[in-house]
Amino acid sequence: MKPVIYVTRKVPDEVLQPYQDLFEWRMWEKEDVPVPRDVLLREVASADGVLCLLTETVDREFLAAGKNLKIVANMAVGYDNIDVEAAHEHGVVVTNTPDVLTETTADLTFALMMATARRLIEAADYIREGKWEYWTPYLLAGSDIHGKTIGIVGMGRIGEAVARRAKGFGMSILYHNRSRKENVERELGADYRDFPELLQEADFIISLTPLTKQTSKMFNQEAFNMMKSSAIFVNASRGGTVDEQALYDALTNNDIRAAGLDVFVNEPISPEHPLVELENVVCLPHIGSASAATRTEMLELCLDNLKAVVNGYDAITPVK
Ligand code: DGY
Repeated sequence: MKPVIYVTRKVPDEVLQPYQDLFEWRMWEKEDVPVPRDVLLREVASADGVLCLLTETVDREFLAAGKNLKIVANMAVGYDNIDVEAAHEHGVVVTNTPDVLTETTADLTFALMMATARRLIEAADYIREGKWEYWTPYLLAGSDIHGKTIGIVGMGRIGEAVARRAKGFGMSILYHNRSRKENVERELGADYRDFPELLQEADFIISLTPLTKQTSKMFNQEAFNMMKSSAIFVNASRGGTVDEQALYDALTNNDIRAAGLDVFVNEPISPEHPLVELENVVCLPHIGSASAATRTEMLELCLDNLKAVVNGYDAITPVK
């Protein structure tokens, strides 16, 4: 009997093709809608492995349902949707997708920072809405990026990749991280700052830190109050690192200038979300790693992890 793999979202046939004969496949056949919880719990009961997305919560209930479960392969580098400690207690390996999405996510983070600073979405809408009548000296004037100071909070792989881009733009680089990164300081000229110092000094504050108990709502009212009134805040990690009410207040009180957000506390958000209604906010639907090539590589890494673990080998990218 072949091991049973449950895939929680429809993925392209051509990606599955090389793995087709290795497993017995079960799949939630919808591309746009997450699998309902009751279906998920029913399917996990007979699965040896699950390929899931960040829309699925892997908690004790899920793990208890998965009697044969050996691995949960999460199609994301972040894994705050998974109770990793509980998984390990159940003898279930958890894997994520580091490395393959680093550069793509850094591209998006930098693009979001630039779009926010130079008001690109507002500018495109300006034409679309038929508002462009004359060229004027300060029409849609934004903030410069070159020569400014970027403050990266969370200097992991993606943070480093953003710092490399910042260096190319002639920015000064500050960072805050759990530990100091000598290679980043040496190679990119980045300077370590404690959190309050970074908030006070940086022109662009970029959240790239994973969501943990320690980082939950670390960007709160106190943090926004420390930023310059010209500061631009960008979040490309997880919405939960931000107190959204405090961010809204900071933006509407002109305590900071603007924000670029790829992630939110509760996703998806609706067009009525208060932050969407602000002109000085660019909101994106969590597309950090969304290039077609990278999404395929993420799926392939999940499939390789499933293949390894259900066959008794070590996972390629286990979450420790
Ligand atoms: C991740 O990988 O954690 C992203 O947020 C989803 O692509």
